[in-house]
Amino acid sequence: MNVMTKSGLEVIPLSRHIGAELRGLDLSKPLNEADVAAINKAWLDHIVILFRGQTLTQEDQIRLTEYFGPVGALGRPPKFFPPGFKSLLPGVMMISNIRENGEPIGALPDGEMMFHHDMIHHALPHDGTMLYSLEIPDHGGDTLFASGYAAYETLDPALKARLEGRRAIHVYNYGSTQRGDSRGVDSQARSLHPVFRTHDRTGRKSTYVNRLMTVGVEGMDDAESAPMLEALFDHTEKPEFVYTHQWRVGDVLLWDNRCSTHARTDFPADQRRLMLRTTVAGNVVPV
Ligand code: SIN
Repeated sequence: MNVMTKSGLEVIPLSRHIGAELRGLDLSKPLNEADVAAINKAWLDHIVILFRGQTLTQEDQIRLTEYFGPVGALGRPPKFFPPGFKSLLPGVMMISNIRENGEPIGALPDGEMMFHHDMIHHALPHDGTMLYSLEIPDHGGDTLFASGYAAYETLDPALKARLEGRRAIHVYNYGSTQRGDSRGVDSQARSLHPVFRTHDRTGRKSTYVNRLMTVGVEGMDDAESAPMLEALFDHTEKPEFVYTHQWRVGDVLLWDNRCSTHARTDFPADQRRLMLRTTVAGNVVPV
């Protein structure tokens, strides 16, 4: 059901469990307090929020991100920055397949990407990620978002009971898009977080493991944990929990990494895709 907030913002759900488009704001201008409260509420209610038709500078994107919390620092060390990062303000990351002298100017350049939570391999993962599209291919390169709340609430009780109270192990090599591929550079980062995370603002529980980065369960050998994790990945990625975003130039999306995973579909290698990304820093260690 579409909702009009007190501040005049229209909130239009995008799927049953996840995603809402917010209409009525020009994000290149500072927002008033009522609008900031309304977009924060929509973010917590819908996990992913979308604004279409925006024209933002990097400064605008940073200001917009700060309405949700402090801007997160880039995870990867500067020695691994692709060349396009030279033109970016601190906290801004470029995702692009555009190449100069044969080298991608941005991070995560090519193709399909498995479901994941941004920065889960760190002790204090970022709460949210914002992506602003500047160039898109004429098809493909969609971003899929899966609700971890819906997955948790519908999970097989026997599987839930076996994993409740456990912590999962997460590893990620910067640039990797498929588990175990040779694309990434070793981040040396490894983390342990609850298999089911309680959101610090909503109090709701969600699944908190993903196919790209989760490699095991603390205190279990692989023979025991691998089939359970596979079952959990398959359940979490069920189409009924997913919103598929087909990009237009000028889209701004913000998603909540505490209670959702996201993935990317393949797209033509000879077509340009360019996005600017910022994150909302983590504010609590996951419990
Ligand atoms: C990401 O996972 O941060 C990138 C998603 C995308 O390129 O659509």
